[in-house]
Amino acid sequence: MTRRSWAEPYKIKMVEHLRMTTREQREAAIAEAGYNTFLLRSEDVYIDLLTDSGTSAMSDRQWAGMMLGDEAYAGSRNYYNLEAAVHEHYGYKHLIPTHQGRGAEHLLSQLCIKPGDSVPGNMYFTTTRHHQEAAGGTFVDVIIDEAHDPACEHPFKGNVDLTKLTALIDRVGAERIPYLSLETNVNMAGGQPCSMENICATCALCHEHGIPVFLDATRAVENAYFIKHREVGFADRSIASILLEICSHTDGCTMSAKKDSLVNIGGFLAVNHDELAERARNLVVVYEGLHTYGGLAGRDMEAMAIGIAESVEEDHIRARVGQVHYLGQRLIDAGVPVVRPIGGHGVFIDAAAFLPHIPREQFPAQSLTAALYVDSGVRSMERGAVSVGRDAVTGQNAYPELELVRLTIPRRVYTQAHMDVVAESVIDLHEHPERVDGLEMVYEPQHLRFFQARFAVATGGRLEHQLPKSERVSTN
Ligand code: F0G
Repeated sequence: MTRRSWAEPYKIKMVEHLRMTTREQREAAIAEAGYNTFLLRSEDVYIDLLTDSGTSAMSDRQWAGMMLGDEAYAGSRNYYNLEAAVHEHYGYKHLIPTHQGRGAEHLLSQLCIKPGDSVPGNMYFTTTRHHQEAAGGTFVDVIIDEAHDPACEHPFKGNVDLTKLTALIDRVGAERIPYLSLETNVNMAGGQPCSMENICATCALCHEHGIPVFLDATRAVENAYFIKHREVGFADRSIASILLEICSHTDGCTMSAKKDSLVNIGGFLAVNHDELAERARNLVVVYEGLHTYGGLAGRDMEAMAIGIAESVEEDHIRARVGQVHYLGQRLIDAGVPVVRPIGGHGVFIDAAAFLPHIPREQFPAQSLTAALYVDSGVRSMERGAVSVGRDAVTGQNAYPELELVRLTIPRRVYTQAHMDVVAESVIDLHEHPERVDGLEMVYEPQHLRFFQARFAVATGGRLEHQLPKSERVSTN
């Protein structure tokens, strides 16, 4: 069979109905949600690109696995199946299941970080940094500068800058660095991969100084896909073997299985070091559950074990990244400013360039998520100043270079026609940016504020629904 398209290696067996809404209904819904797409009810959403986390469609094999759940409190056979799958595909020695990725981050942070420590990483992730700080550490960004430039076409924008890392080691001393957290396909940079060469060099430098490296393996399979297609010497290698090689350089990983592993809930901590594993097993019982279920049902672990095996199938990952690229390329062709190159799990719109008339204090990315929802029922996520939060020292709002709207594509859920609906709506707004008004924050939660913050139309600004009817964008 000649392969030209990224078309899906599966067909649809069951459908989930979506409620179609009117513009008036969406205007009311977003106002009620405080202009925060996290606070919308999902039944008011047509195409849900809020996240790729826990939103994937499971396969018939996974659903069959759910029926094989062994719900014993201790020693469930599904735990052993999961352990075997993690060992086969990630290669680590010890598995500690957790309810999701942040459960693993919590354990690792509590086990390794002492107050005053510095924890380097290739760009922050919200929950990862939160747990590091809660344990008394300070996150230090050591990603290459190119990662902060949305237009830069560097093929591996997730790479660690070894000069920055060396400077940190010189400044604080290796003994104040409990580990380096290495994220694959860096989420906040736009789903940008690390090269194998950089992973190798970063781990070598850390190990030279006795610093362990823990992978955030949440999207490591997608990273392996980019290594195969962009890095010299990997074109003929299987995704599975590249994934194993990535992990082989590191000392363990935290994992949100809700992404690559194609399940709706689940995660794990995996480590090679025997004593650390022992301590993790002691701690997991306090926060998650016994070390053979970690907050999960037996059936969830079975679905995860099967999902891990499916996630490294070549045709699966090709179609997954192919669909993301299809949407990204449509936007690029229409001149929409998006993070380049297109990432693995979503298309990231450069909202600061998209809406130059909205000052950063009025949260352009947040404003665009609200306007996009009103236009077409598409739900996206802010990944800019609201997500980054306040500076830990000054307490002032921090304005990161990347002010992005993330269109995150769930795995195996939407069709090419859905991608076209999204593209048409974004392109229409891009042609009429003046119809998007800035927002001000009227309620700010203490932790991870982006989840529950509420907004109002900025004083002097108007949201589109407040425009006279004749000036509005016309859709359905
Ligand atoms: N690390 C990365 C890179 C992530 O993207 C996430 C979650 C986590 C850790 C935490 O895992 O949600 O299972 O506790 N990212 C989701 C997202 C929430 O939408 O990007 P979790």
